[in-house]
Amino acid sequence: MKFSTPAVLVATASVVHATVFLAGDSTMARNGGGAGTGTDGWGQFLQFSLNVPVNNQAIGGRSARSFTREGRFQTIINTVTSGDTVIIEFGHNDGGSLSTDNGRTDCPGAGNETCQTVFNGVQETVLTYPAYLQNAARAMIAKGAQVIISSPTPNNPWEGGSFVYTPNRFTNYSRASAAAVGAAFVDHGQYTANRFQALGKGTVDAFFPNDHTHTSPAGANVVAQAFVKGLLCGNAPLKAQVRNSTASVPGSCI
Ligand SMILES: *[C@@H]1O[C@H](CO)[C@@H](O)[C@H](O)[C@H]1NC(C)=O
Ligand SMILES: *[C@@H]1O[C@H](CO)[C@@H](O)[C@H](O)[C@H]1NC(C)=O
Ligand SMILES: *[C@@H]1O[C@H](CO)[C@@H](O)[C@H](O)[C@H]1NC(C)=O
Repeated sequence: MKFSTPAVLVATASVVHATVFLAGDSTMARNGGGAGTGTDGWGQFLQFSLNVPVNNQAIGGRSARSFTREGRFQTIINTVTSGDTVIIEFGHNDGGSLSTDNGRTDCPGAGNETCQTVFNGVQETVLTYPAYLQNAARAMIAKGAQVIISSPTPNNPWEGGSFVYTPNRFTNYSRASAAAVGAAFVDHGQYTANRFQALGKGTVDAFFPNDHTHTSPAGANVVAQAFVKGLLCGNAPLKAQVRNSTASVPGSCI
């Protein structure tokens, strides 16, 4: 008897890594602003638009700094291999002042500035938001991963009565950080804001059941779709894994 299986064996032996890892805060995390709050993060809805699995490592209350200090970026760095993608999105917990350190505030600045603080009794050298993002992204890219840095989602832009969206400094920092390390950039904040503007105040207010930051599951789905639109309109390799056509996803390329 003759078998002609070697070609098949060779093919199945080369496992393709194509998992999408998510690093972010409550706006991206499972259960959003907390279990039982009726909110969810957009990262939970991304999988419905992709042909590859999503591993959502986002966690509420985290900033680029605390995600770093707790070893959460390092866990992803240790895990990724060639073909995986990491989406990094922070900003909601990165502001504030180090004079009353909450463990999340980053050192002010766009480069290698450092600040000294004592948090939980431990002396800590605090880096800037761009430094945390770029250090993590460089290490992931060195492991062969594709990295996408995205700008933070807006708080409810209708909360004052009329629509107002102004990107904050973390949008600029995330764009500049992506460029600095050769990562892709998705202006998730602007894509989401545009979608929220089109949907109108009534619909969007209902996406924010408790506060102006954390979305309902329906809101999280819209925020995920806005990310996918940005992905389709950009040049990240992950766009090849999107199940939806560009035209079928609401909104316009910016
Ligand atoms: C910090 O300095 C290094 C070495 O000069 C540089 O490669 C890196 O881009 C700097 N980081 C930031 C965030 O400016
Ligand atoms: C972000 O960059 C734009 C374009 O360079 C600039 O006009 C804007 O003032 C910056 N925003 C912040 C908050 O720094
Ligand atoms: C893509 O299509 C799936 C259904 O196949 C849907 O669940 C998902 O929300 C769509 N994504 C976008 C970005 O429209």
